[in-house]
Amino acid sequence: MDPGHAVPAAASFPAGVETTGPGETFGLGERAAALLRGGEVLLLHGGLGAGKTCFVQGLCRGLGVTAEVVSPTFTLVNTYEGRLRVHHLDFYRIESPADLPDIGVPDLLDEVEDGGAVLVAEWPGPLLAALGPLPRLEFLATAGGGPSSRRWHLRGQPEPAAAWRALFSGGDPAC
Ligand SMILES: Nc1ncnc2c1ncn2[C@@H]1O[C@H](COP(=O)(O)OP(=O)(O)OP(=O)(O)O)[C@@H](O)[C@H]1O
Ligand SMILES: [Mg+2]
Repeated sequence: MDPGHAVPAAASFPAGVETTGPGETFGLGERAAALLRGGEVLLLHGGLGAGKTCFVQGLCRGLGVTAEVVSPTFTLVNTYEGRLRVHHLDFYRIESPADLPDIGVPDLLDEVEDGGAVLVAEWPGPLLAALGPLPRLEFLATAGGGPSSRRWHLRGQPEPAAAWRALFSGGDPAC
């Protein structure tokens, strides 16, 4: 696996919370949306079929997006309008960070820094250098205890706020 497709080790994340099917992953995304204020960068790690796009679909629903949310594997960037604007990117097919300006990443990051949008990236390896010191939330989806289970882990720079940590440790009171 080339560095752009590297998935960080689960051991470098807190234990996380398990979802037992796509509906629960969608619901986790919906609840995460309630914590977004605008200006966040969300990096989604996990292998092919881990559930990253499913999580983003829930996130968008939680933000009030009514458009159909589809994988940006081929389009590279999809933008949705909800309570906040969502730029959903997938870098799986990006060969090199040198390609980022071609898909408008610097402008998207400027918009996010201004606080009016959130950026959500699947396979974010090529994006990391371009982020510099920007705060980020990093999610990792790994296999769970059953065939349709996934374990969702969260870490961040800086440390995610308590509500985020509660949601991703199974301690969310709304669960
Ligand atoms: N607990 C679960 N959470 C999310 N998806 C699940 C779960 N269990 C099974 N699935 C299935 O796994 C697949 C996840 O697909 P999805 O496109 O969200 O993955 P992805 O991580 O975005 O993959 P890719 O790297 O190809 O973009 C779907 O077919 C979904 O039905
Ligand atoms: Mg995907």
